[in-house]
Order: sequence, then C-alpha cells, then structure tokens
Amino acid sequence: MSLPDGTPAFHAFLYADPAAHSLSPRMHRAAFAHAGLNGTYDALRVAPADLPGAVEALRRPGVLGANLSLPHKEAALPLLDSLSSAARAVGAVNTIVHRDGQLHGDNTDSPGLRDALYDAGYIWEEGAEVIVLGAGGAARAAVHALNCGQQNVTVVNRTLERAQAIAADWHAPDAHFQVTALPAHAAPWESAALVVNASSAGLNDPDQTPLDATFLTRLPARTLVYDMVYKPAETRLMREARAAGLNAENGLGMLAHQARLAFRAWTGADVPVSVFLNALTDLTDPGPAPAGSA
Ligand SMILES: NC(=O)c1ccc[n+]([C@@H]2O[C@H](COP(=O)([O-])OP(=O)(O)OC[C@H]3O[C@@H](n4cnc5c(N)ncnc54)[C@H](OP(=O)(O)O)[C@@H]3O)[C@@H](O)[C@H]2O)c1
Repeated sequence: MSLPDGTPAFHAFLYADPAAHSLSPRMHRAAFAHAGLNGTYDALRVAPADLPGAVEALRRPGVLGANLSLPHKEAALPLLDSLSSAARAVGAVNTIVHRDGQLHGDNTDSPGLRDALYDAGYIWEEGAEVIVLGAGGAARAAVHALNCGQQNVTVVNRTLERAQAIAADWHAPDAHFQVTALPAHAAPWESAALVVNASSAGLNDPDQTPLDATFLTRLPARTLVYDMVYKPAETRLMREARAAGLNAENGLGMLAHQARLAFRAWTGADVPVSVFLNALTDLTDPGPAPAGSA
C-alpha cells in the first residue's frame, strides 16, 4: 500500500489477550499524525497458541513491529532473532522491532519507568533505598531500571517466593547496589526514597491496595510513591500515600514513555512525550477510529 506520492505506509501492532481495551492505539496513532507518517497501529487479540504465527507475520515489508502485552512478554523471547540487553536482563519483551526481515526484541518498560520517575521529580541519589511491590514482569522491569540506576532495591510481594526468585535471578551490574527480597514488615520503610507499585493490585478496583497503609506512615516525608497502575487515575495506594503527606503519581507517565521509546525504535522519530500523554487525557473516550486495518 502506498500514498499517491509514493510514501510507504507503515504498520505496527499490539499483540495481547485480551487486547480490546488497550490505550496503545490512541497513543501511536497520535504519534504517527504528529510525525507526519502514514502509519497504522492496531491492537490484535492473539491467543498464546497463535503467538508464533503472529510474530512471523511481522517480517512482512511495511511492518515496523509490535508491542506485546499480557500474556506474551516472556513467551516471545525464543521467537526473535536478537534481544536488547534490557530485554535479556528483564526476561521480557514489550517491543519487537522489524528491520529487513529480522526481529529484534526490546523492553521499553524499564527505560519508560526511568523517564517517568525523572518527570515525577525523583532524584536519583546513588545508593538510595527503593522498594518495589510485586514480582511479575513489571516488577522485573522496575528492578532493572532502578538497580541499573544505582539504587538498592527491596522487592516485596504478596507471594514472598516470587520476590525471592527475582532477587536470586538478578545479576547486578554493580555489586555496590543490591536487590533483595523481604516480607513487608522487614522492608526498609524508614529509609526508602521511592516506592514503586509494580503489582496489579488496584487495577480497575479503587478499593484494592498492595500495601497496608501503616507502612506508608513509616516512610520519610520526601518519599515518592509511584503506582504503575493508571486506572483509576488515583488508586487507593496513591490516596493513602497523599493522606500520609507523601508525593504520589500514577503510571500514565510510564505508559506514555514506554510507547514513546517503542515508536522511536520503529520509526526513528523522537515524538515528544506530551503527544502520547495528550492522547491519554480522557481515558473514558474510546479514541479515534482505526486509521487502517492490519
Ligand atoms: N504504567 C505502565 O506503563 C505499565 C507497564 C507495565 C505494567 N503495568 C502494570 O503493572 C502491573 C503488573 O503487571 P505485570 O505484568 O507484572 O503483572 P503480573 O505478572 O500478573 O504480576 C502481578 C503481580 O501483582 C501481585 N498482585 C496481584 N494482585 C495483588 C493484590 N491484591 N495484592 C498484592 N499483590 C497483588 C501478584 O502477586 P502474587 O505473585 O502473589 O500473585 C504479582 O506479583 C499491572 O497493573 C500492569 O497494568 C503498567
């Protein structure tokens, strides 16, 4: 497919299951428009058994690549020709980049979190104590971002064994900065500069929280509580953190930055994060109609 002037059309996808409620199409369509590129982005429901075929289909001419979401981020690794160091270290791919028939796996969740924390005013002091809640793929991306950023990380999870597995698997790039797993009562709340909720507690449920509020009262006043969850826009964790006098941010910034970085990897266009954030402004709006079909 090409425009009358010969400009090629580009195609990118989200593969997830379910996929219907993804916010990625509205962000990437806004980015194509901002960059002046004739591109389409479609969220496709891909069942786990269909992932190998769907990944193979990305080798077609005109396809830039795909984002991956649950449940495909780990399963895609062996299907790809190469992996970035972040994807390898996290053990998960959220972005596949297609170049001349070759598929490269990257993880933009980790640098997306890093950039969102900068935007939220987090000051990266060498050797600071940070606490990550959760032990799934998002927690692994957070451990990567934070420990590579010279932070000491304590992973706290409802199922302690999963947190311990992250700490055991992790190869710290610098032995001065550690990753440990502890039950919540033993975590270093009094000295933590940052708490990142990388658990799915609170997702679409305003009454759910990953953390007993008494732990929040043990944090220093300067602590930032960053919740990767962005729906609802103010989670119970954020509400209780603010009530305890702390700064709290939701995960929209991370969502926008991971998309920005994926879009840049596909197109080379450095579209400002504000374009992605503005596309998310009204989360109840179903978003623009698809610019094209896959
Ligand atoms: N903002 C962004 O750009 C961004 C990017 C990636 C992910 N996320 C969000 O990050 C969250 C985690 O994603 P994931 O892929 O890592 O999910 P996942 O692999 O399913 O892991 C979920 C984690 O949440 C914990 N959990 C679930 N319900 C809980 C509850 N009620 N109380 C305490 N812990 C609970 C689980 O604990 P157990 O181990 O005990 O089951 C597990 O550690 C999701 O909400 C996702 O939307 C946001």
